[in-house]
Order: sequence, then structure tokens, then C-alpha cells
Amino acid sequence: MSKILVTGGAGFIGSNFSNMMAEKGYDVTAFDDLSFGVKENLNDKVKFVQGDVNKAEDLEKCGDDFDYILHLAASSSAPMFAKDMYWAYQNNVAGHIRVMEFAKKVGAKKLLFASTSSIYGNNKTPLTEDQEVTPPNHYSVTKFTQEGASRVFNKAEGLEIIAFRFMSIYGLHEDHKKNFANLVSQFIWGMAKDETPVLYGDGTQERDFTNVKDVCQGIEKAMETEKKYGFTVFNIGTHTAINLLDLVKLINKVMGKNIEPKLIENPVKEGYVKSQLADITKVTTELGYEPTVGLEEGIKEIVENLKK
Ligand SMILES: NC(=O)c1ccc[n+]([C@@H]2O[C@H](COP(=O)([O-])OP(=O)(O)OC[C@H]3O[C@@H](n4cnc5c(N)ncnc54)[C@H](O)[C@@H]3O)[C@@H](O)[C@H]2O)c1
Repeated sequence: MSKILVTGGAGFIGSNFSNMMAEKGYDVTAFDDLSFGVKENLNDKVKFVQGDVNKAEDLEKCGDDFDYILHLAASSSAPMFAKDMYWAYQNNVAGHIRVMEFAKKVGAKKLLFASTSSIYGNNKTPLTEDQEVTPPNHYSVTKFTQEGASRVFNKAEGLEIIAFRFMSIYGLHEDHKKNFANLVSQFIWGMAKDETPVLYGDGTQERDFTNVKDVCQGIEKAMETEKKYGFTVFNIGTHTAINLLDLVKLINKVMGKNIEPKLIENPVKEGYVKSQLADITKVTTELGYEPTVGLEEGIKEIVENLKK
């Protein structure tokens, strides 16, 4: 079975993917500095190495013969850049360079990594991979830079590289993210304690909420395909969007509650995304990806998990 290295493997998406692939019999090593993610997210079939992607010697501790490298380690949301912008740029951009160099050195067949749908800003929906983008915040600038660096690295070194522009991802193993977690999880956690969800503006902003299981499916398909792309980008979403008022109604329905949201003036003055909806034609036609988890089903899973 193939050997896979997952950076950011103790994080939300990384642990879901590592656990799933280890369950399927792949040889999976999760690498994480535990600055944010937690080892408890991982099952015991996954090997774990603690280290920092910015340090070549830490990556070398993982071994030297990986078939695939999935690079998810990052300062993973826009507000993290307010805390320490210099470090967050270094982590996402320079860290990415280290991982590309490592992938080349160990002769990996493919490097796959997380970009983000945030780079689309307020582009017209549905969002397509060929749209011109102007990343609206530091976080998305670093992700766009990772894409650009990958395109050039592929040309120069021949390493096959695939980037994913994930939409709004939710699911199990988000607890460590606390107030950086997806709104679906944050609303469920609060409403379970009868707290009022707070919505910015009039609550009509829409998001393409995508279950982490479908993200894992998309990554696996991109990993396993024999097709060669050089460097390419895939949207991962559901091609359905729901506004936040309706999201709160759906959570109320699943939880058997009737909590009204509170609407407040939007404190985000610049670049707030009004509408997010993925066009997934490319990933469905090229890789056979299909979203499988409906939002109501995904909410039920988190609610049931909370009760345990
Ligand atoms: N969750 C989403 O909705 C979403 C959407 C678009 C893109 N992404 C991207 O997907 C990736 C994974 O996101 P996530 O939601 O699982 O976030 P996460 O924060 O849970 O996972 C990131 C992990 O990387 C680790 N990490 C950070 N810096 C590191 C370093 N220098 N060395 C080693 N490990 C380090 C953290 O400890 C954490 O466990 C990130 O790159 C993120 O930007 C996520």
C-alpha cells in the first residue's frame, strides 16, 4: 500500500484524512507541530511525528520514501494573521517551499496541498477555477502565493502538484479550532447550550458548506488518479449554498429547538464574502468526485457526537 505523509495531520482536515486512509490500509504518517491541532484527533493506525514544516531536519525525521505528500500545515484562517502576520506569512509561504523541496528530495509521485476558496473574494458565483482572482486578505494572499510557487516549481522540477480550493468545510474533529471552527460547528456547540447564534448583517450571506468526508473523498481521488496535470487546481465543494438564517433554522430543526439568531452590524468592513458557491464541474468530470453528505446529515452527526 502507498506511503502517505500528511503535514498538519493532527488538525481538522488532516486527521480526518489520515484516519480514513489508515483505516483503508495505507501507511500514513501525520506530521504536525501541535501548535493548534491535537494528537487525540488521530487513531492509533496513524504514525505521528512532531515537527515544524519550516525545518527541513524535522521533515527528514518522517522518512525518505513517500509516494504522496498532502500538505495541510498552515496558519489556517484569516484572523490568525492579525495575531502575528510575519510568522503566518512565513509559515504558509516559506513552509510550503520546504515541503515542495522535501517532496522532490524523497521522489514523491505527487504533492497535494490546501489552497482556499477565500482567494475568490466576492467573485461572481458559481466560482470556477479559471476565474481571475484578487485575494482579499493576507491569508488568501499566502494561499495564492503557494499556488504560484507550485506552478513554477512544477515547471522547473517536474514535481506533480495539485492544489485544492476548499469551500467552507465542517465536520468532526474541529473542537481544537474553537472560535476558528466552521460556523456550522460553532452554532451547534452554542445552541446545544441554548446560546443565541450571532449573525453579521442581515444573515443572508451564503456559504457552500462541505462535509470533511467529501473533502477526504476529493483528496483521495486526486491522489490516486493516474492522470497527469503538471500543476492544477480543483475546487472542492457541493455546488449548493445556504444562507446563515436558513442554517440556524436547519440546526434548530435537527436539535428540536427554536432559538432565534441575533443580527448585528457586520464588523468586517473590507472584503467580507457575501456569496460562496462552488462550480465543481472540473473535479467531478476529471476525478469522478461527487458530494455525498447532505448538510442536514452532517449536522446530525455533529449533534449526535456532542451527546456522547
Ligand atoms: N477548514 C476549512 O474550511 C478550510 C478551507 C480552506 C482551506 N483550508 C486549509 O486546509 C488546511 C487544513 O485546515 P484545517 O481546517 O484542518 O486547519 P487546522 O488548523 O485544524 O490544521 C492545520 C494544522 O497544521 C498544524 N501546523 C500549523 N503550522 C505548522 C507548522 N509550521 N508545522 C507543522 N504543523 C503545523 C497545526 O497544528 C494544525 O494541526 C489549511 O492549510 C487551511 O488553510 C481549510
